Amino acid sequence: MTWTRKDLLDIQSLQAEEILTVLDTARAFKAVGERAIKKVPALRGKTVVNLFIEPSTRTRISFELAAQRLSADVINFSAEASSLRKGETLKDTARNLEALNADIIIIRHSAAGAPHFLSRFLQASVVNAGDGAHEHPTQALLDIFTIREKKERIEGLRVTILGDIVYSRVARSNIWALLKLGAKVTLCGPATLVPAVFEKMGCRVTHDVKDALGGADVINLLRIQHERQRKTMFPSLGEYTSLFGINRSRLSQVNPDTLIMHPGPINRGVEIDSEVADGSRSVILEQVTNGLALRMAVLFLVSGGKGPQEIAA
Ligand code: CP
Repeated sequence: MTWTRKDLLDIQSLQAEEILTVLDTARAFKAVGERAIKKVPALRGKTVVNLFIEPSTRTRISFELAAQRLSADVINFSAEASSLRKGETLKDTARNLEALNADIIIIRHSAAGAPHFLSRFLQASVVNAGDGAHEHPTQALLDIFTIREKKERIEGLRVTILGDIVYSRVARSNIWALLKLGAKVTLCGPATLVPAVFEKMGCRVTHDVKDALGGADVINLLRIQHERQRKTMFPSLGEYTSLFGINRSRLSQVNPDTLIMHPGPINRGVEIDSEVADGSRSVILEQVTNGLALRMAVLFLVSGGKGPQEIAA
């Protein structure tokens, strides 16, 4: 399917074929990244702004490197050193960036809907790099790219997402994408963090970790989003770890070829033991590597690219 969107705001509004177009384009860019010369001129003359109003390591650096590999000029906006501190609104900040000829604005913000808000008045493309607890579309796309690369399909796979679901934008984007592509999604964690309402999206909800892990092809672990919780959602981190943390003993109960995933940042010894995070079934760092090709694909597509057919083999 030919890509036609100016923005990437969420997964919810994408069709399955559009998700596949992004994945196939990312596959072509991954091949480019394996060449001696990794840079392509696709975004030469374009300006990309990383407008991150919340902290980030992986997403910001990955977008920056992706833009550089596409030959764009990149500006990293520092919220702390900006006029946002003097009371300037997000709308005025974004309009000023556009007045400086920004072609793509990549935004991470604590408010759900901030990218959608910007997209309503900007001519520039807007890419959502995480908005509150709402969505983190490029994380889900790189997760699914990694699963497809390892398992060679998505349809019919049993994917368990374990942890803080209710406050997780990664969970929401993954759920939308996995269901659209025909995977079976199980959500697990404490009842306060995994409410039954997620069944309405088409997921299976369980609070029994043994039930959630048994038979899973993929286990995607999420950290507790302390920064978004307004009150304590379970008695203690120690209790969370004893009931839901993935350690060697719990790992022995899952299939030998089950993928262990985590979007990062990981909290070692809480949702995942170091032995599991660094073990042979973990693809956590491969997810990060794949994020570069995936974000090259997104920047290429929102700036007018049609799909993988435009990238020379
Ligand atoms: N996965 C993810 O979004 O990581 P960062 O917060 O470091 O970007």
